[in-house]
Amino acid sequence: MEISSIGVVGAGQMGNGIAHVCALAGYDVVMTDISADALSRALSLIEKNLGRQVSRGKISEAEMAAAMARIRTTTTLAELGPTDLVIEAATERETVKQAIFEDLLPHLKPTTILTSNTSSISITRLASRTDRPEKFMGFHFMNPVPVMQLVELIRGIATDEETFKACKSVVDRLGKTAATAEDFPAFIVNRILMPMINEAVYTLYEGVGNVTSIDMAMKLGTNHPMGPLELADFIGLDTCLAIMNVLHDGLADTKYRPCPLLTKYVEAGWLGRKTQRGFYDYRGEVPVPTR
Ligand code: CAA
Repeated sequence: MEISSIGVVGAGQMGNGIAHVCALAGYDVVMTDISADALSRALSLIEKNLGRQVSRGKISEAEMAAAMARIRTTTTLAELGPTDLVIEAATERETVKQAIFEDLLPHLKPTTILTSNTSSISITRLASRTDRPEKFMGFHFMNPVPVMQLVELIRGIATDEETFKACKSVVDRLGKTAATAEDFPAFIVNRILMPMINEAVYTLYEGVGNVTSIDMAMKLGTNHPMGPLELADFIGLDTCLAIMNVLHDGLADTKYRPCPLLTKYVEAGWLGRKTQRGFYDYRGEVPVPTR
C-alpha cells in the first residue's frame, strides 16, 4: 500500500514535529487541531525548526519552502478523510483519543491506516473501538521529533502485516529507524525511561540529592544529554505522571508507583517547560532549580 498523504491530529509538541518530518520527507500533510491558534503557533514553530536545519546546512532553502508548502492546516477533522495514513497526536488521555476516532471514522476512506502516537495507552484497546482494528497501530515518535532517530511501531493484537509494512516504509522514508514493540503498557522506551525519571524524583524527594546534583550526576556519570529531571520538564510532568499511572495500573506492580513529589508538581500546575516551571523555573534568563 502506497502512502502519499498523511493526516496529523493535534498541533502540540508532538503533532508539529510529526507534520514537520512528514512534509520534509515529501508527504502531503493535513494537520488539524480544535484550536486555530494552536495551528498557527505550530506552523511558526515548524518554520523556525526548519530554518534551524537550513542554517546548520542540513537542508536547503528550497527543501524548506517545499516542506512548508506541503502542510495544510484545518480545524475540521473531517478534512483528514481522504488521507492515506492518520497519525493521532492529541492529548495523552484515552477519552480524548476515543472521541477523536469516533468523530473521524465516518469520514475516512476504508483503506486509510489509523495510528496513534500514544506513549503508553493500549493499542489493542484503542483499535477495538474503531471499525478497522486490522488497520490500526501505534506510531510513537520521540521528542524533539525532527532530531530523534527512533520511532516505536506497536502492533495491536489484530494489526495486519500490510498495515505494519506500510507504516515501516513511512518510517524508512522519514530517514528514521523503527523499533518494533509488543503492545504492553508504555511499550519499550517509556517502560524503561519513566521508572528512571520517577526514581530520580524519589531521589530528590528523599533528599539523596538536589535537582542540580541529580541531573549533573546522570549527565556526567552516564553521558545522558539531559539529566532526568531536566528531561522530565522537557517531556512534561503531567505526561510523565500519566505514563507512570499506566504502568502502575497496567502491570499492577508497586515498583511503578508514582513518586508523591511528582504528583505534587503536577497538582501545582508546575508541568515543566510548557508552563515555565517544573523541577526548574524557566521564567528568567537561565533555568533555576526549584529545589
Ligand atoms: N527541530 C529541529 N532541530 C532541532 C530541534 C527541533 N525542535 N531541537 C534541536 N534541534 C537540533 C539543533 O538544531 C541541533 O542540530 P545540529 O546537531 O545540526 O547542530 C541539534 O538538534 C542539537 O540541538 P542543540 O545544540 O540546540 O541542543 P542540545 O545539543 O542541547 O540538544 C536535544 C538538544 C537534542 C534535545 C538533547 O538535549 C537531547 O537529545 N535530549 C534528550 C531528548 C530525549 O531523550 N528525548 C526523548 C524523550 S522521551 C519521548 O519523547 C517519549 C515519550 O513518549 C515521552
